[in-house]
Amino acid sequence: MPLQTAPLPLAQLLQARRDRLAELYPDPVMLWSGQAVSRNFPANVYPFRANSHFLYFAGLPLANAAIHLEGGRLTLFMDDTSPAAALWHGPTPSRDTIAAEMGAAAAYPYEHVDHYRAESTTLPSQAKSNPDRSQALVEALVTLRLHHDDDALAQIERAAAVSVAAHRAGMAATPNATTEAEVRAAMEQVIMARGMTCAYNSIVTVHGEVLHNEQYHHTLAPGDLLLADVGAEAPSGWASDITRTWPVSGRFTAAQRDIYDVVLAAHDACIAAAQPGVEYRDLHLLACRTLASGLVELGLLKGHPDSLVEQDVHALFFPHGVGHLLGLDVHDMEDLGDVAGYATGRTRSDRFGLKFLRLDRPLAANMVVTIEPGFYQVPGIIGPARQSGQYSDTINWERLDAFQGVRGIRIENDVHITPTGCTVLTAALPTKADAVEDLVSGV
Ligand code: GLY
Ligand code: MN
Ligand code: MN
Repeated sequence: MPLQTAPLPLAQLLQARRDRLAELYPDPVMLWSGQAVSRNFPANVYPFRANSHFLYFAGLPLANAAIHLEGGRLTLFMDDTSPAAALWHGPTPSRDTIAAEMGAAAAYPYEHVDHYRAESTTLPSQAKSNPDRSQALVEALVTLRLHHDDDALAQIERAAAVSVAAHRAGMAATPNATTEAEVRAAMEQVIMARGMTCAYNSIVTVHGEVLHNEQYHHTLAPGDLLLADVGAEAPSGWASDITRTWPVSGRFTAAQRDIYDVVLAAHDACIAAAQPGVEYRDLHLLACRTLASGLVELGLLKGHPDSLVEQDVHALFFPHGVGHLLGLDVHDMEDLGDVAGYATGRTRSDRFGLKFLRLDRPLAANMVVTIEPGFYQVPGIIGPARQSGQYSDTINWERLDAFQGVRGIRIENDVHITPTGCTVLTAALPTKADAVEDLVSGV
């Protein structure tokens, strides 16, 4: 579906969201932005990020603010900046100016929030309120935020475009970099220079087997694969989430390319199958079967791919789900537990191969999800599995030794589900091994 070219004025966009909330949840709601947390003295604060549920309806990244929503009407509670604060931080728009921008019906100093607390429902994480009403509010918010409006999609596209540029910069910087930190800096430089922030802590590592590695001190060796999971967040808060894995030397070894192509086949199979009505869990299982089948062809696994997946053998090398919801947060709405990720009546499986699945609902138009299969050799998983003798019929351990240098590969894209299929929002960044090599080598 074509996106709007001219964005709606903020007030109009927010009014539409508030009206939809009022249809789903007519009772009064209070949402808090959160407060900046100071580090050692009051003016030295940790980077502040407003709560995403607040942002969805308030549209502006305010701190120390609350909004009251009822019947589509918004009341803003926040204090005007004091002269003392303005001395250090500069002038800021007045409460009334901000209220007008978001289309508020009324605006009061923050302390007035107390007059509305008792009658309002809020999120369980924000304050105590009637648990049944909170649950109904959570379900209404999930219903709204699962399916993105045109403005949200345009914002995610903006963030995705900057992430694509950041990954290109990371690949181009690799030949002249000596450490992971230098490549990370080249990538985040692009995000910062475009006025965005990172949607999560960047992962830029030659130890891709550490799934959320946040260390950047390793030196880059010519035979290493570098895994970069870096995503920009637009000033409006909307996120993107991309992973690429590339050879430091600019050329995959034969073993690295073999596994890379298996992961890419799993990724491509999921993208080809993604459309409304398809169960996300089935995409995960499709990725698992495609991985298993590729690993059988390489002689690493033994047996029928379906049976290997049923036994969770593939999960020794792919110990996470194939992706998650994306929106105002990476792993969107996981602050609500599994309410957003799991359809009503569904709960997480105990199975090793399924318990890390973050999303188990049918896909629907205007959801945005990631597709991010991977292959990892995690010593804490592979070592005990080999020792146990349990997998002698299904894993060719000697053959695996030939792939020792392939510690971690992940390929991740952001996918907008359309009425008839899907659009890869991050498609401008190549995935094919040859094209990735060219970007690293500057060909
Ligand atoms: N960037 C975190 C993830 O891909 O899940
Ligand atoms: Mn992701
Ligand atoms: Mn990621």
